[in-house]
Amino acid sequence: MKRVAVLGGDGIGPEVVDAAVSVLEGLGVPLRCEGPYPIGFAAYRKRGTPLPEETLAAVRDADAALFGAVTTPPDEPGYRSPVLALRQGLGLFANVRPCASAPHPSSRPGIDLVIVRENTEGLYAGRERVEDEGRRAVSERVITRAASERIVRFACEFARRRGARRLCLVHKANVLRVSDGLFRRAGLEVAASYPQLEVEELLVDACAMRLLRDPERFEVIVTTNLFGDILSDEACMLVGGLGLACSANIGECAALFEPVHGSAPDIAGEGIANPLAAIGSAALLLEHLGEDAAAERVRAAVRDVLAAGRTTPDLGGALGTVEVTQAVLAAL
Ligand code: NAD
Ligand code: IPM
Ligand code: MN
Repeated sequence: MKRVAVLGGDGIGPEVVDAAVSVLEGLGVPLRCEGPYPIGFAAYRKRGTPLPEETLAAVRDADAALFGAVTTPPDEPGYRSPVLALRQGLGLFANVRPCASAPHPSSRPGIDLVIVRENTEGLYAGRERVEDEGRRAVSERVITRAASERIVRFACEFARRRGARRLCLVHKANVLRVSDGLFRRAGLEVAASYPQLEVEELLVDACAMRLLRDPERFEVIVTTNLFGDILSDEACMLVGGLGLACSANIGECAALFEPVHGSAPDIAGEGIANPLAAIGSAALLLEHLGEDAAAERVRAAVRDVLAAGRTTPDLGGALGTVEVTQAVLAAL
């Protein structure tokens, strides 16, 4: 029996995670969902920490974790997102964000790309300080050879397993000559040992443009932390938006699956959050546990529901979170 730790979080996090759990539990796959474990701003207010030790331990000990989203208020002094603590604390170094055409009018056809994002360093290293009595703020952008090699190797292996022919290394080495210069050199060296892969490189601004102009050309993109964050929100808008965008955080010893979107305070509590990004993340989780057939069943059910126009308002429909989830369960 595989164990899945469930973390709801804030805002729509618990709403969409409940939906994904009911799909996981409806499949007849030998897994047990445990939790929900506390995480996020509500946990912080109640317990003084946004990531209680029991939550971290539950993710570490489970076979996989399913996470919703948290709210991170910008003005809370000393507060840091528990998402970063999870990714960095558990060594979840690869953030995998698939972006494929959906059978829905809001999606462009012909797109099937994956963004592989370095998930532990870069501008997310947490090295920020103020100087000059608050008149200057400095963020250090930390790039290491080890993490760069590791993420590009992961992306190359991922591309090989998918049968992808092309890998695109995205950076800004023309300006960030030292940090992205290192990422670029390390990445090109690693990728050179995959002769079957056609390796290209793009500067991140050009990549943002090409994603809108001809997204069909991309197969696997590998990039640093913040660039991957931004490009994945951009790319998902080509294929139905944040309500469908799912992701996997993979490490040596743990794996956590979550929608790309946040806690959406503007619609929280209204029962209209799109659960399909969380349900898609549950499909990635199933694949990670070796349950490929169940993952494909979930994806097929989601495609059926989208094709039938049974959607929440973000995709132009009039259904709520629970109704869309029931439609997925019925399609299963
Ligand atoms: P957001 O992703 O929460 O919302 C952006 C927009 O997309 C909003 O209009 C929202 O209503 C809509 N949206 C998002 N998910 C949706 C869904 N499933 N169904 C329908 N509509 C959806 O981003 P934001 O507004 O920039 O951030 C809100 C909070 O979430 C912030 O505190 C931010 O720090 C946090 N955040 C958390 C995560 C995470 O926990 N992984 C990710 C991103 C943002
Ligand atoms: C994401 C989110 C996170 C990030 C935040 C919540 C820390 O935007 O998963 O894309 O910036 O990586
Ligand atoms: Mn993001």
